[in-house]
Amino acid sequence: MAQSKIYKNFIGGEWVESRSGQTFENLNPADTSDVVGYFQDSSEADVNDAVEAAKAAWEKWRLTPAPKRGEILYRAGEILSERKEEYARDMTREMGKILKETRGDVQEAIDTAFYMAGEGRRMFGFTTPSELKDKFNMAMRVPLGVVGMITPWNFPMAIPSWKIFPALVCGNTCVIKPAEDTPLSTINLVRALVDAGLPKGVVNIVTGHGPTAGAPLVNHKDVRAISFTGSSEVGRIVGQAAAASFKPCSLEMGGKNAIIVLDDANVDLAVDGALWGAFGTAGQRCTAASRMIVQRGVHDEFVAKFVERTKKMKIGDGLDETVTMGPQVNKQQIDTTVKYVEIGKNEGAKIATGGSRPNGDRLSRGWFHEPTIFTNAHPKMRIAQEEIFGPVTTVIQTTSVEEAAEIANSTMYGLSSAIYTRDVNKAFRAIRDIYAGITYVNAPTIGAEVHLPFGGVKATGNGHREGSQAIDFFTTWKAVYIDYSDKLQRAQIDNE
Ligand code: UN1
Repeated sequence: MAQSKIYKNFIGGEWVESRSGQTFENLNPADTSDVVGYFQDSSEADVNDAVEAAKAAWEKWRLTPAPKRGEILYRAGEILSERKEEYARDMTREMGKILKETRGDVQEAIDTAFYMAGEGRRMFGFTTPSELKDKFNMAMRVPLGVVGMITPWNFPMAIPSWKIFPALVCGNTCVIKPAEDTPLSTINLVRALVDAGLPKGVVNIVTGHGPTAGAPLVNHKDVRAISFTGSSEVGRIVGQAAAASFKPCSLEMGGKNAIIVLDDANVDLAVDGALWGAFGTAGQRCTAASRMIVQRGVHDEFVAKFVERTKKMKIGDGLDETVTMGPQVNKQQIDTTVKYVEIGKNEGAKIATGGSRPNGDRLSRGWFHEPTIFTNAHPKMRIAQEEIFGPVTTVIQTTSVEEAAEIANSTMYGLSSAIYTRDVNKAFRAIRDIYAGITYVNAPTIGAEVHLPFGGVKATGNGHREGSQAIDFFTTWKAVYIDYSDKLQRAQIDNE
């Protein structure tokens, strides 16, 4: 077992201790006797230092040509590729998901680095004709300044990369407060950037907790925008706080994503998708498939095959390559799962498999829960409406594609969705009628790629998108009018 070490904040290009003098433990969720490390329990004073450093660095960074900023991201992508295995292992140890998935998480950061590096050579604005003679009009993207970021533990490197890389290429500097369960992966991401040549102060990390480190970041007068990913509950607090000072605020929040399986679907393929969608990352994804809406004709076959395959999953430490599902991230998460399993039983749904925490020595020191399938469920049950963020999914029977889309739309969320069908007409109807940010056809609810917009509607998001559209959030528009007529020309007046 590697020795646990003390990690510091990263402010103004230096690794520094918190002014609070306090640290907190980061435990391995597969074995809570394994301390991954001690991290700084930051306070408002640390946030102030970090924002000041980011503000000072902005003066130079905003004047660095965007293609040059992009080149640093490109190098960071190459460094991440070299360190992929090491960083994936660190991530599995602090977060719990299996190695295949943490390698994928690092890969998302690499993909984002390369994509956003390219944005440095685009960053397109536009020109338009003027109403007046001898006048030229254009609109250009300009950076915001210091941006604050608050990131979750389920994609501990990918999600910080979705925010940091576009923010940087657009010419902003930033302060990030990563989730207290997974700060090491953000530190690793930033190490790659530093080794790629990022100037001091351009990215700053303050580790710690929401109320003591996150809130001062959101409220800081010199932070020009906030990008948050996390629960809808916390997102509401962040959004309201940001609104008080009219700060742009991008919120990516919960989901209750459905996979629709129609009678004409390839059922085996749908079961593959259901397993990956529902139990990948132990269900701790905002894109997790937590509802299966299955048409009557294939319902029983689908359930039988889904249950059989679920029973074969191997739960355990994600560092063991034979394991197919890791633990939940912490006690709070496992308690939520246990609570919802009880709720589902009391609501009258039937547990087709799972439903408990597994026994056995190997698993007793971690936050494990069996992959659990509820059947005989009604779309209005709480287990079919509320985000659980654990390895629990609910199968609902349906009669038609129209009814399936209606059920899919019947929750407060709208992030991802999927349909399995071989009928192109039905697929297109579902794409048209499902109100969500993402729809997959013949693929599960997870698998976002950086060159498309990522995000959702209703309680999932407040209208912004990450992925390809992140530069819309991390820039603002400057409209420029250049009059070369050498005389006063009045718009709307002198243009008859
Ligand atoms: C999230 O669940 O918070 O497409 C993000 C996906 C992943 C990202 C999920 N690449 O589901």
